Amino acid sequence: MFEYEFKTISMHETQKIAQKLGKQLFAGDVVALVGDLGTGKTTFSQGVAKIMGIHEPISSPTFTYINEYLGENFRLIHIDAYRIEKSEVLIKMGLSDYYEDSIILIEWANLVPDAIPEEAISILFTAGDSSSSRTLKIFSYRKLKL
Ligand SMILES: Nc1ncnc2c1ncn2[C@@H]1O[C@H](COP(=O)(O)OP(=O)(O)OP(=O)(O)O)[C@@H](O)[C@H]1O
Ligand SMILES: [Mg+2]
Repeated sequence: MFEYEFKTISMHETQKIAQKLGKQLFAGDVVALVGDLGTGKTTFSQGVAKIMGIHEPISSPTFTYINEYLGENFRLIHIDAYRIEKSEVLIKMGLSDYYEDSIILIEWANLVPDAIPEEAISILFTAGDSSSSRTLKIFSYRKLKL
């Protein structure tokens, strides 16, 4: 398991890390985003989307918890599991069908552990002492250039 740790002091810095990671993602990759409210999971997702060539705004949807975007090379599935109680729901909606040809980002992945494949890249977001400091811990089974 490879582990990387970064301290960022702005949304821009968090998105720069997201863009670096985003360049190294391929169809079938699942990225599990874990952390409290407002720690930067959606901000990070926006960075990944940008580097994938997605120009639409990526938001945390209020009424849907799964959004699809078409990138230059891959489809991006952005999921917010905050309101999903049981991972079975997510699996039944066909998350596993998406694995093969898409990159999947799941916010609040810790709430749906059964839906997360073991080989997923996990990112743990924590708030720091100042209002704009965040720590990102990235865990990956393959080596990443970050
Ligand atoms: N270093 C930083 N990295 C990321 N975001 C930051 C940073 N500093 C400040 N912010 C701000 O923190 C907020 C993070 O919100 P964001 O929606 O990305 O969080 P989230 O983890 O997706 O929350 P939720 O669990 O509600 O979906 C944004 O308003 C962003 O501008
Ligand atoms: Mg969010």
